[in-house]
Amino acid sequence: MTDRYAVIGNPIAQSKSPLIHGQFAATHGQDMVYEAIEGPLEGFADAVRAFIAAGGRGMNVTAPFKLQAYEMADTLSERARQAGAVNTLKFEGGRIAADNFDGIGLVNDLQRNLGMALSGCRVLMLGAGGAARGALRPLLEQGPAELVIANRHPEKAEALARPYAASHGVRGISYAEIGRQRFDLVVNATSASLRGELPPVPATAFSPEGLAYELAYGKGLTPFLRLAQNAGVSHLADGVGMLIEQAAEGFAWWRGVRPETGPVIRRMTVPLV
Ligand code: ATR
Repeated sequence: MTDRYAVIGNPIAQSKSPLIHGQFAATHGQDMVYEAIEGPLEGFADAVRAFIAAGGRGMNVTAPFKLQAYEMADTLSERARQAGAVNTLKFEGGRIAADNFDGIGLVNDLQRNLGMALSGCRVLMLGAGGAARGALRPLLEQGPAELVIANRHPEKAEALARPYAASHGVRGISYAEIGRQRFDLVVNATSASLRGELPPVPATAFSPEGLAYELAYGKGLTPFLRLAQNAGVSHLADGVGMLIEQAAEGFAWWRGVRPETGPVIRRMTVPLV
């Protein structure tokens, strides 16, 4: 019987997940369908239960439901617990298992696809919201020499950094406190690019031989990437690779088959111009 999967969010029309999983399934001969569901803002849990009742095997969860998915899960992976959010659900034996592959998707894209050695590198993360929180622990596990979180409201950056201050030397600061410090990797984990805004990061924070990474995807050269380019950074990337790598982790968890990501990344990449 054809297995059913879906992504749920609101809005959902923009989601690339059906395309990605459709391509994984076709390449690896998996008998499955994958649809997009617009979850009602006041009825997320009911929509998930209805999908399970209709024979659903698993779901990806996107904004604004990642915290609600965390709350309704019967079992949580360590990663999901640490991120405080869930992006993938698996329905088995009447139970809802939950994981979060966003962070590992970012790390895999940085290391495998973009050739960035995170061990020993200096990382600046912009933003202290859900996206930054999900990325923090997986980045730290790769052993960077330094990880600094900058946020407009620095108290949020400090709170995010605090559990890792003693163990990993993570610092939470304001943009002004970046000063003349330079980083090998600057990750824009703010939501600024979704509105065409630029986080107030100084151009001097980028190393020309480093990497500027925009978590948003499909938006071409965002104000953040343009700033990095003008600062002489030639290695620019957006989050399309992260999106596809996290999808691959979820697919492997559901289907027991690890899909090839390269062809899908090449097909979906929007040129950064
Ligand atoms: P997400 O889940 O995408 O991380 P969020 O939890 O609402 O969304 O967090 C948004 C992040 O983007 C916050 O860190 C926010 O900074 P503040 O906490 O100081 O508000 C950051 N952000 C949004 N717009 C920004 C802008 N124009 N410049 C800098 N930071 C911005």
